[in-house]
Amino acid sequence: MEQKTIPYKIYLNESEMPEYWYNLRADMPKKPAPLLDPATHEPMTAEALRAVFCEELVAQELDSDTRLYPIPQEIRDFYRMYRPSPLVRAYCLEKKLKTPAKIFYKFEGNNTSGSHKLNSAVAQAYYAKKQGLKGVTTETGAGQWGTALSMACSYFGLDLKVYMVKVSYEQKPFRREVMRVYGASVTPSPSDTTEVGRKILTEHPGTGGSLGCAISEAVETAVKNPGYRYVLGSVLNQVLLHQSVIGLETKSALDKYGIKPDIIIGCAGGGSNLGGLIAPFMGEKLRGENDYRIIAVEPASCPSLTRGVYAYDFCDTGMVCPLAKMYTLGSDFIPAPNHAGGLRYHGMSPILSELYDEGLLEAVSVPQTKVFEAAEQFARVEGILPAPESSHAIRVAIDEAIRCRETGEAKTIVFGLTGTGYFDLVAYEKFHNGQMDDYIPTDAELNAYAARLPKYKKRSRRRRFLRGARPRVRDDALADASRNKHLRRIQRSADGRRTVSGRHEKPTGTLKNAPDLGAFLL
Ligand SMILES: Cc1ncc(COP(=O)(O)O)c(C=O)c1O
Repeated sequence: MEQKTIPYKIYLNESEMPEYWYNLRADMPKKPAPLLDPATHEPMTAEALRAVFCEELVAQELDSDTRLYPIPQEIRDFYRMYRPSPLVRAYCLEKKLKTPAKIFYKFEGNNTSGSHKLNSAVAQAYYAKKQGLKGVTTETGAGQWGTALSMACSYFGLDLKVYMVKVSYEQKPFRREVMRVYGASVTPSPSDTTEVGRKILTEHPGTGGSLGCAISEAVETAVKNPGYRYVLGSVLNQVLLHQSVIGLETKSALDKYGIKPDIIIGCAGGGSNLGGLIAPFMGEKLRGENDYRIIAVEPASCPSLTRGVYAYDFCDTGMVCPLAKMYTLGSDFIPAPNHAGGLRYHGMSPILSELYDEGLLEAVSVPQTKVFEAAEQFARVEGILPAPESSHAIRVAIDEAIRCRETGEAKTIVFGLTGTGYFDLVAYEKFHNGQMDDYIPTDAELNAYAARLPKYKKRSRRRRFLRGARPRVRDDALADASRNKHLRRIQRSADGRRTVSGRHEKPTGTLKNAPDLGAFLL
């Protein structure tokens, strides 16, 4: 291909925007494990999920086969208000680092909500409206998801009740006000407005909350209010599907200039931006058409991929949600306050968890002061004030570019710049005043959480035999969850080497105390 000069920003035309979302699961030989009902351990049925989630979103959640989903015209019209988003060549950062690496970032902060979350928010609000619902409930960590959803709900005329992680509610009053501008009601979580919130407050008085707590409260509120459903901003398969718009645009922009990335980097909270960014690239990797190094970056204070275990766990702290098989730190893990609030989730998307378990993507964890150093370095040369979450990806992109300087390799690095940091100035202030610490949980602490992971009874061979042909998915999933090998920790170093340290104890927690999901579904 003829060499073209690469502009500072590669913009697609509106007509080049994706018309389909790409469902990566269709190309995964080993599909992510199904969600399980915590009471029966059976895969969640569409019918049960429809009591909590919108109908069309349930269909998307359970569909591992359809490769391409047409994006409804109404959603594409909304996307056009802020998409296509630019793919920026970080010429200034490259120069500053004196690296031969070529660095690109896909900037998703160009909308009022300030992040990629709007891509799924508009889709979820659209399907809720189409179903004739009155409103939806949700949780928000850093506030970006709640802000995005409030914009989407006001556009489609839906009511929105947001449970906001208390520490973010206090640190980010302005984000809360943006949500209220768009008509949402915002409650700090844990709160005394729900049964589950009151229980968490009794057990952990003074807690700053977590995404897991806020999810429990939002689910409880949705199922107790007729005409409401719950929507989630990350983790679920449907959210990664909507976020594939990020990766599809990135790939089209790179293809225009004949650029093939060597390394793709994204921060990982619940996995939605990373899952979306890598989708078409991972698809090529799975189909054997191309190879890429893909790196998930998480905070050292909440290291679900790098130090978690791959097992079935609750998606929420209150244990009212279905069980997902994922890398998890335990659903009652309450991370130390960390200024990248959106990365404080105990689990990880089942799609990314499966890919990671198969060694198809790497993960690294980084301490927060190193993240803020990178954020500031980036802001000073590239001009954009990055969100702390996004800055995790910046940290590792800079580290990789420095490695290129040392080896002389001119690698192409693409990272996701998921959002802006205008509402994170309290965090920047703490960093500047030297008041930011790097809390890293000890193995003993993580082991204590992991020991409380849900425990399953493995069915006997005889029973299986008597039952005749066994439903494979269910048995495999349950057996996997209970097998000791899934309690190992897979650690990855910054250069991507994988070491497995044995942790061979069985989980001792039980499902006894978990509220019956059915109780909430009714
Ligand atoms: C700006 C930003 N980036 C990244 C994330 C992490 O979420 P996810 O892993 O779902 O992309 C968040 C979550 O709130 C966020 O606000």
